Amino acid sequence: MQIKDSVVFITGANRGLGLAFAKAALAAGARKVYGGARDPKSITLPGVTPVALDVTQPAQAEAAARACGDVTLLINNAGISRGSSFLGSPDAVAAARAELETNFFGPWALAQAFAPVLAANGGGGMINVLSALSWTTFPSVATYSATKSAAWSLSNGLRNELAAQGTQVTSLHVGYMDTDMAAHAEGDKASPDDVARQALAGVEAGQPEVLADEVSRQLKQGLSSPTPPYAGSPQAA
Ligand SMILES: NC(=O)c1ccc[n+]([C@@H]2O[C@H](COP(=O)([O-])OP(=O)(O)OC[C@H]3O[C@@H](n4cnc5c(N)ncnc54)[C@H](OP(=O)(O)O)[C@@H]3O)[C@@H](O)[C@H]2O)c1
Repeated sequence: MQIKDSVVFITGANRGLGLAFAKAALAAGARKVYGGARDPKSITLPGVTPVALDVTQPAQAEAAARACGDVTLLINNAGISRGSSFLGSPDAVAAARAELETNFFGPWALAQAFAPVLAANGGGGMINVLSALSWTTFPSVATYSATKSAAWSLSNGLRNELAAQGTQVTSLHVGYMDTDMAAHAEGDKASPDDVARQALAGVEAGQPEVLADEVSRQLKQGLSSPTPPYAGSPQAA
């Protein structure tokens, strides 16, 4: 599908990668961009139509789909990380449940709500924002990584189930990006603007998967190694 003249709905569009997606979609000629946000007043980019949406509330996802019946590209971007290990964090289970609600059940609810909209508008597409951490894990982000692995499977399953209605599903994997979520991290970080542009180009090229930085490309390549990346460096964070 082409971004020009598409109608895009982005979850978590008020800041970080979601805001970068909104800018990139407008720059690529999208006809309309809806910005989902918990606080619609936080959507300030000119040209973006704010929509109240907490992705953990399926009723709000359904209301958004009813209100935005012209959408042709859904971008499941909203995500949280609680920075929790499995065994060393006192509230690890609560952190994992919260992360699952946002990172796994959220995109699932959005997909359920918007699938009929996408079908009615000719198929269209969906981007699911995953992570390099779909394929590896560190103690400092263990519960988050588990949710991004689950979301990878969700994205693959949605691709299977939406193929019949002509909806293409693109999974986006990236390592650290320069947003609030990774503000604590040192070292190289991908530019969210560049990542958003790559993801939209991937949609236009019909790619099932976009690996937006060297970290995600190396991790993916290493999965078939006898010593895969997820089996080493457990102290790294
Ligand atoms: N930053 C990285 O290094 C990195 C790397 C790989 C993948 N990712 C993924 O990239 C995506 C975007 O993250 P980011 O880096 O842009 O993080 P961010 O700067 O922390 O922004 C997160 C966005 O998600 C929204 N959000 C969180 N919970 C929500 C909910 N329940 N309902 C609706 N919106 C919600 C936030 O809205 P509020 O303003 O209301 O909180 C915000 O707009 C996430 O899926 C993240 O997991 C990030």
